[in-house]
Amino acid sequence: MLRVGIITASDKGSRGEREDLSGPTLSKLVQEIDGEVVEYIVLPDDQAQLEATMCQWADELNLDLILTTGGTGFSIRDVTPEATLAVADRMVPGIAEVMRMESLKVTPKAMLSRAIAALRKRTLIINMPGSPKAVRECFAAIAPAIPHGIQILKGEASECASTSQATQNQ
Ligand code: MTE
Repeated sequence: MLRVGIITASDKGSRGEREDLSGPTLSKLVQEIDGEVVEYIVLPDDQAQLEATMCQWADELNLDLILTTGGTGFSIRDVTPEATLAVADRMVPGIAEVMRMESLKVTPKAMLSRAIAALRKRTLIINMPGSPKAVRECFAAIAPAIPHGIQILKGEASECASTSQATQNQ
């Protein structure tokens, strides 16, 4: 099973003024990739707190996957991508590219998300926008490739090349 942490970045959510619907939506979705949510937190749009949580979950809890929702737009308080970039060792541009590419088929507003994906040590961190609808659309776009990426990150799969026609699309 993949050990997953979910961070909802929302000033109103962290003050209890708005119910977080995106985090619970993600919790259900990760079951589709055999994920178990072991950490969940609603944080304000505060870069230092976001960075500290991502570092602790990656470095101390060794989570396989951290999914964030919210804080990727143009609001002056939206700093989730900046926090992710600050703790990143390596970038994974393809994940955010695919999320935006598929989301653009649904709404032109998809281009307004500045979400990124990155690796910190053996943890994959993926930003998503902050609505249940956006989370469902983005998750559907990337889910087929995530388990394999994490297997490679953990050193559990090293061989991607396949000569067999049957496994070419896996
Ligand atoms: N992506 C998908 N798939 N579906 C959506 O509805 N909404 C967009 C965009 N990405 C959307 C989406 C909108 S309206 C905004 S403002 C940005 O994500 C940023 O959202 P955030 O600030 O909640 O992170």
